[in-house]
Amino acid sequence: MKSMILTAVLVSVPAFAGPFELKGDAAKGEANYKQLCASCHGEKGDGTGAAAAALNPKPTSFADAANADRLTDEWVYKMIKDGGAANGKSAMMVAWSGVLKDDALRDVAAYVLKFKPAKAAAPADKKPAKK
Ligand code: HEC
Repeated sequence: MKSMILTAVLVSVPAFAGPFELKGDAAKGEANYKQLCASCHGEKGDGTGAAAAALNPKPTSFADAANADRLTDEWVYKMIKDGGAANGKSAMMVAWSGVLKDDALRDVAAYVLKFKPAKAAAPADKKPAKK
């Protein structure tokens, strides 16, 4: 009886009780990125797609270190899934949840996150430049 209760508790704890887990596969997201996103965000994720010039605000450069802190797994997933308007950003960034299944949304998010520059060392970690 005790174990039944325990099982029931474990099963009913919702996934979102814990930290967000993207679980996307960047390799699988690449084709969708190139087809659906690169026109604005650029093949290299630097925000210089062919359509970017006409847009204001500009499509985000995922490769710019200045944006890296904002581009968490959860935020990137939410922006792709629900679009800019739902998240207080430009409506030019549409919601892709009607186009891509959840797995595919996660995969393309994982691909986007690969453009992020490697995390810069925190100032405290920086050794004073000698020479
Ligand atoms: C029509 C052009 C366009 C297309 C196509 C497009 N985006 Fe965007 N996207 C934008 C713009 C513009 C913004 C910036 C919104 C803002 O800053 O208000 C944006 C923002 C984002 C953000 C949020 C980044 C941030 O600055 O916080 C993510 C993530 C994103 N796009 C991913 C994607 C992905 C993945 C695709 C393809 C499935 C895609 N976008 C397709 C225009 C586009």
